[in-house]
Amino acid sequence: MLSYNEVQSEDLNKWSFAEVHFNPLALGKCEAIMSLGNGYMGLRSAAEESYIGEKRNLFVNGTFNKFDEFEVTELPNTADITRLDIRIDGTRFSLERGTVTQYERMLNIRDAELVRSFIWEYEGKKIRFEFRRFVSLAKLHQIGLKVSITPLNEGITLVINSGIDGQVSNSGSQHFHEGEKRIYDKTFLELIQTTTESKVDFVHGAAHRLRLNQQEIDTAPKMDIDRRKVAVSYAFDVAAGDCLEFEKMATVFTSRDREFAEGTSLDDIRQHALAELKAFHSAGYDPLFAEHQLAWSKVWEQYNVSIQSSNSFDQLAVRFAIYHLVIMTPAHDRRMGIGAKGLSGEGYKGHSFWDTEIFILPFYIYTHPEVARSLLEYRYLGLEGARAKAIENGFTGAMYPWEAAWPSDGEVTPEWGQVDIVTGKQIKIWSGFIEQHITSDVAYAVWHYYKATGDQDFMDRYGYEMIFDTAKFWASRLEWNEAKGVYEINEVVGPDEYKEHVDNNAFTNYMASFNIRLAMEYYHSLQNSNADLFQSLNGKLELEEAMNEWQSKIEQIYLPQPNQDGIIPQDDTYLQKKLIDLTPYKLQSKVGSIFDDYNLDQVGEMQVSKQADIMMLFFLLEDQFTPEVKRANYDYYEPKTLHDSSLSMSTHSILANDFGDRDLAYQLFERASQIDLGPYMYSSDAGIHSASLGGIWECVVLGFAGVRMLGGELHMNPNLPKAWDELSFPLYWQGQRLEVHINRETLTLTANSDQEVQLVIHGNPIKFSTELQIQY
Ligand code: BGC
Repeated sequence: MLSYNEVQSEDLNKWSFAEVHFNPLALGKCEAIMSLGNGYMGLRSAAEESYIGEKRNLFVNGTFNKFDEFEVTELPNTADITRLDIRIDGTRFSLERGTVTQYERMLNIRDAELVRSFIWEYEGKKIRFEFRRFVSLAKLHQIGLKVSITPLNEGITLVINSGIDGQVSNSGSQHFHEGEKRIYDKTFLELIQTTTESKVDFVHGAAHRLRLNQQEIDTAPKMDIDRRKVAVSYAFDVAAGDCLEFEKMATVFTSRDREFAEGTSLDDIRQHALAELKAFHSAGYDPLFAEHQLAWSKVWEQYNVSIQSSNSFDQLAVRFAIYHLVIMTPAHDRRMGIGAKGLSGEGYKGHSFWDTEIFILPFYIYTHPEVARSLLEYRYLGLEGARAKAIENGFTGAMYPWEAAWPSDGEVTPEWGQVDIVTGKQIKIWSGFIEQHITSDVAYAVWHYYKATGDQDFMDRYGYEMIFDTAKFWASRLEWNEAKGVYEINEVVGPDEYKEHVDNNAFTNYMASFNIRLAMEYYHSLQNSNADLFQSLNGKLELEEAMNEWQSKIEQIYLPQPNQDGIIPQDDTYLQKKLIDLTPYKLQSKVGSIFDDYNLDQVGEMQVSKQADIMMLFFLLEDQFTPEVKRANYDYYEPKTLHDSSLSMSTHSILANDFGDRDLAYQLFERASQIDLGPYMYSSDAGIHSASLGGIWECVVLGFAGVRMLGGELHMNPNLPKAWDELSFPLYWQGQRLEVHINRETLTLTANSDQEVQLVIHGNPIKFSTELQIQY
């Protein structure tokens, strides 16, 4: 059970949430939503002592490995450093035995520290425990742990076994060779392991410090080396009232780290890692935690969104979202993307989806454009894999993979999924073959970034090439329908993954057309503005030929239009499919419950959608559709949408705002913000939902504040929910940072320079420099 804003420390009001009862049957929830990280690595918050059903995960971004030829590449779960085997008077400490009081496991979002405390009573002995943990944002390779154990009424004999445990796997797939193990000076533990296929070396280090009543103690441990494992055990007698503090400092380095130039030997990495571990060990938990805290205070200066709401959950939810966005994003290395579960679980194998470009990128475009650029450069590097995928499928240009891992990997979507309840076989996953809208989603994201930032250097180096090559893919993908005299895109999966093998998914067709038009526009503008670059890209991509093809096809691409009721068919057959009563499957606490009764083929024959599809189109290409059409389609499709993807709710909230229904928008925002943080105890087991966290920020800034980039202009249409009195957030536009403050009547914008800002507020063009205050 979770408690929000009621944790013991008042100073953390609206900055923390806690688990207040330990439930060994719902471990995944807190492991995932309280996970720690710094973009370099992500540590799932399994308890120090282990429990059946736990998932102990530590991932280092970008270190993909393929277990064998029958599996796709995934982020390997690397050695565990958090597990402690604590024995008290010969009994293994576990919350499943004895009596537990004053239990609280709290994530302090402000400082990114996990704190767990309670009193454990067993066979008459009462012992106070406190565990603290952080993954440093100041030094990306460091993890710190601190445990305090105080027997309250009687003395105890305490044994703590701690080490580096490589006996881990990804649900059974073991990604590492056995490796080398060593203990230096009875203090510094080292485990070196190499991934089996990608040959990434991991160097793990760990060292401990012990204090009794604040006094450092020097106890020689019992040492132990085993298969894939190195550990030490410390034993002491602790008298009643004494406090034993146990600190563990751990480090992780890999041969994939950018700071190691290509060709750096493993021995050099190892020396470097050992020196860092020694420095970390001699500093101890508190000073390094202080550095980490300072790094987080800068995060909150950069991104903070402040909401005055009658519902304090709203503020917490948006901070929770920003916290996770920061810890999942590899801001340090453009060769890496963001996983659909961040670094908080094995779900989706660490792969990147359109979730990044459409749901997360806007957060970075408007609050930290350098990070947005790095994420787009990851897709630029991914052109290699995208070109290979296009060729494999008989197309030209760049066909982005539905799921992406290391940039050159190309398509990595697994082929087989869950059980089909009718046949008992595994369901085939078609997305890697035919969910193709990802290619235009990437092009859209490039355009969005460019228009909002004006970053010409990015466009010249990367952006134009991405837009031209994706447009080339679409031109080669179009299919001529002689009878209808149109180009179609057949046999796809659109955003609604409950409809496979459909023809002319409206979202896919419109976005493909958008992508080609964009390439045509940039073809002309680049010819005029930078003839040299145009020539060089022309040489590389045969642009003149491509342009002829775009020109000959663009006007004939089939774009489904609203029917007599104003409804745009989601695809050629959706509107003819049967209707069923969806009441049992709407508003469920467990997603996908329709599959308890039907299989995917059967669901495919019904008018039922997994997630926003046409609504996504209205969100991305909003100026191509009237408010009436949007509302009519919302009213038609929403009742048929189960929101079985976490990507769905935020888009619906933003659209509800667009057609002026702010109560509905707020209700949907509340539901979106509960996907991970809310009370459903099993929804985050495989990891948090990255896109939905980006979606929470989108609901606030793009929804309630109405921030949009339309045709290159900044628009704002504030419309705060009734529960909110004030909203403030930073907003980057064309290289300037604006501070936005909205209350019930007034919108105030403050710029960090005196460069003129132009924007459109509720349809009225406005210019200002330094500060603007208007009644809206
Ligand atoms: C959704 C996709 C999404 C993926 C990863 C799926 O369930 O249908 O739209 O990209 O999850 O979050």
